Amino acid sequence: MFGDCFAGKAGIEVGGPSQVFSKKGIFPVYPLVGSLDNCNFSAATVWDGKVPAGCGYRFDPGKPAGRQYVAEATDMSGLSSNAYDFVLSSHMLEHTANPIRALLEWKRLLKEGGLLVLLLPDRELTFDHRRPVTPFAHLIDDYKANVAEDDLTHLPEILTLHDLARDPEAGGPEAFELRCLKNIENRCLHHHVFDMELAMSLVEYAGFRRKASESVAPHHLLLVAQK
Ligand SMILES: C[S@@+](CC[C@H](N)C(=O)[O-])C[C@H]1O[C@@H](n2cnc3c(N)ncnc32)[C@H](O)[C@@H]1O
Repeated sequence: MFGDCFAGKAGIEVGGPSQVFSKKGIFPVYPLVGSLDNCNFSAATVWDGKVPAGCGYRFDPGKPAGRQYVAEATDMSGLSSNAYDFVLSSHMLEHTANPIRALLEWKRLLKEGGLLVLLLPDRELTFDHRRPVTPFAHLIDDYKANVAEDDLTHLPEILTLHDLARDPEAGGPEAFELRCLKNIENRCLHHHVFDMELAMSLVEYAGFRRKASESVAPHHLLLVAQK
């Protein structure tokens, strides 16, 4: 399903690379694509180490490296509109303070008819399971208020309800709080918590047409939508 939308086509990932898109992943598009660029907020992240801007985005051993852009997911203004056949994003959207702005930016990059593949954490199965699903109205308010990545509105909720027992990498409560306070540097925070209904509302609000949605083990919400 959807194979033709990726075979030989040009795409961009935001916050890649991602195991889910690899040969053995749940949505194995890397081996199919013609080319794939990537955007990350920094040239050095806790997930991937140093990946400087330029031609060094390595995502599949059988494919040429793509171009690495260093930019916010919500502001990729250095990139042309209507340039890509598809956008990939796995477990990234929960890390931005302004998901609607990000989705609108990704839609701008897509050609008419281009596909968005979006994966989000299924809260029930992650360290967010005690947090409430973020109200859709809150995300619209964030968009209208042009909320930026230094936003820490959700910090009290996160410090109270984040399940550290399910997040050993976060360390103890003090280390976790310190990391959260430095979120603008590390971007580890899950600003918002999604379920499938909220994810679908968001992509539709951003003007995409939903093509498929599925919960996939071990902890993914998967959505495919079209510009
Ligand atoms: C949880 S990791 C997911 C990594 C990978 N996509 C996966 O599924 O395993 C989040 C990724 O999004 C990137 N990221 C977080 N906030 C970002 C932002 N505002 N703009 C661009 N990239 C961001 C992080 O640096 C990291 O690469």
